[in-house]
Amino acid sequence: MKKFSPAGKNFPHMIHGGDYNPDQWLKYPEIIDQDIRLIPLANCNAMSINIFSWAKLEPEEGIYDFSFLDMIMNRLNSIGTKVVLATPSGAKPAWMSQKHPEVLRVNSTRIRNLHGERHNHCYTAPYYRKKITEINTLLAERYKNHPALIMWHVSNEYGGECHCELCQDSFRKWLKEKYHNNLDELNDAYWSNFWSHTYTDWSQIESPSPIGEKNLNGLVLDWKRFVTHQTKDFYMCETAPLKKITPDIPVGINMMYLYQGLDYFKFKDVVDYVSWDNYPTWHDNKGDETPATIAFNHDMFRSIKKKPFLLMENTPSCTSWQKYSKLKRPGMHLLSSVQAVAHGSDSIQYFQWRKSRGGHEKFHGAVVDHCGHENTRVFREVAQVGAVLKKLDDVVGTYTKSDVAVVFDTENAWALEQAPVMSKTTKKYNETCINHYRSFWRNAVNCDVIDSDCSFDGYKLIVAPMLYMIKKGVAEKIEKYVKSGGNIVFTYGSGWVDENDLCFLGGFPGGILRDVFGIWDEETDSLRPEDFNTIKTSDDKAYKAIDYCSLIQTTTADTLATYTKDFYGGMPALTKNTYGAGNAYFIAFRDEGDFRDDFYSELISKLNITQNLKNLPFNVSAHTREDENSIYLFAENYNNTPQKIFLEEKYEDVINGGFVSGEISLSAFGAMILKKPK
Ligand code: GAL
Repeated sequence: MKKFSPAGKNFPHMIHGGDYNPDQWLKYPEIIDQDIRLIPLANCNAMSINIFSWAKLEPEEGIYDFSFLDMIMNRLNSIGTKVVLATPSGAKPAWMSQKHPEVLRVNSTRIRNLHGERHNHCYTAPYYRKKITEINTLLAERYKNHPALIMWHVSNEYGGECHCELCQDSFRKWLKEKYHNNLDELNDAYWSNFWSHTYTDWSQIESPSPIGEKNLNGLVLDWKRFVTHQTKDFYMCETAPLKKITPDIPVGINMMYLYQGLDYFKFKDVVDYVSWDNYPTWHDNKGDETPATIAFNHDMFRSIKKKPFLLMENTPSCTSWQKYSKLKRPGMHLLSSVQAVAHGSDSIQYFQWRKSRGGHEKFHGAVVDHCGHENTRVFREVAQVGAVLKKLDDVVGTYTKSDVAVVFDTENAWALEQAPVMSKTTKKYNETCINHYRSFWRNAVNCDVIDSDCSFDGYKLIVAPMLYMIKKGVAEKIEKYVKSGGNIVFTYGSGWVDENDLCFLGGFPGGILRDVFGIWDEETDSLRPEDFNTIKTSDDKAYKAIDYCSLIQTTTADTLATYTKDFYGGMPALTKNTYGAGNAYFIAFRDEGDFRDDFYSELISKLNITQNLKNLPFNVSAHTREDENSIYLFAENYNNTPQKIFLEEKYEDVINGGFVSGEISLSAFGAMILKKPK
């Protein structure tokens, strides 16, 4: 596989740097002088600038002033620091909202926002699109040959939705295209005879609203799809000048942790690189939930393009907006950085370089504190991360080989969320996918996290928890995958509706899937928090079943476990169906974690799934990246005590030099990067 560097061929290094806002400090030239001194001391090599600078760049409509940007680009270049240059559309100047109020967002109750905050613009408004095209053209023309420019950082964390008349019109246009200008087709897809919701003219269609239509499931889904479409369309508009004027400079957006306002997988073909912003609550006493959840996110963002990604933002110390702003304990910053690289990141970037003096984020963690110098614990730990990253040039662009994929599908999440079924509080789709993933994390197995539209080829095992919605073509893809030797796991709550949220007729899971799994899922019992059942496996192990118990009947599948209690005692709780050359497993109940760990550990050995290390202590994991010559092994200890691991082979110690093998110790919150030839 060819190496892919997200920063493009001009910068084959790990990026280390972050959001830098010199535009806030123009009246304090000595601070900018200090930054220029401190950036190399922190071992930073690229800064993200211009993220929220529109008011500086265009102080009056059509009057541009790039002097501060020229100055800062040149000063960064003078110290050999590269620039990740943002387009400023994440926040707009006040004059624009005042003169052109159509750029302001309208919320779902149809009230137009006032000027303020950020991410408060309409993605449709022609004026906003015209202005962003104009300013991005000027930026690209001005800096196209600037030696510091390595990448474009488009806007900031695209998200949210606008319900203005312009957006309603575009929504109707999008629907007309989707339903071939045939209102009947739309009404059928929405099952709109229910409650007499039939549309007789396109102009009657409105986006969902708490004061209007909110339960027409097909409409709600289509609106969410449209929001992704329109945001992507805005992205295409704002990046057109960048792609034209600087075709060799990679372009992408920064995505967010488990954000489901957008279906990020739909951006895979239009972004040159994937990047995301990571703000975990480390040290939250939740066992391995946090490291596993972050690992899941890293793997999902890597899986969007199936290529290395960038960690565009993370905090070097605390996050000011979390419920509790705990500091990263000594070592945690290097460990969390190694984690990102282990899962495919080719950068460690921060929000923020320097704490601002005022404003909403003045106490958010930063490389440089208000004290203004380098003699801080955080600065030293950042410099240490930078020093490690300098040793990782060879890791840049290396790929991840995964035997396992967990299916985590945004459209499915949308549909399941609104489905009036199971329980209002315990569906927990995200958590369920992460919990299934966690068993692989504990076993040091590389995983991809894909959506149901992705290819299933090449995986030994696909785990698709609560895949309630089976989109067009997915059942056939699963059938082909299993028939030709693949292994798949489904759970309760799977295969109930199609892409329009219309229930499958003839029994669940719908269509050909009943043959693939060899079962019929007749009913689902939603348990109250104080209820539970117990399941017993054929080798006499017992596990607690909580929240959901599906009442399934086998047609061709073998029963591997049964319920022991209630009126469905004796019915199958776990089945396996051999179908063609592969196997389809159905877990009919939700467990507390012990069952999943045992079940997946057994599958891992049965299917010969690669474990990067074996017999790891709790809260320790290991992941790999590779190229044609070498395998890099990243070992991570999330405990606050040292832990022992065993290396069956000899590895080069990339951070400390020398070679290691056999039993070695990982320090508290410690990480190692090891290398061996293939
Ligand atoms: C991100 C955002 C940054 C900053 C950061 C604080 O979501 O992109 O601009 O606000 O959060 O944690």
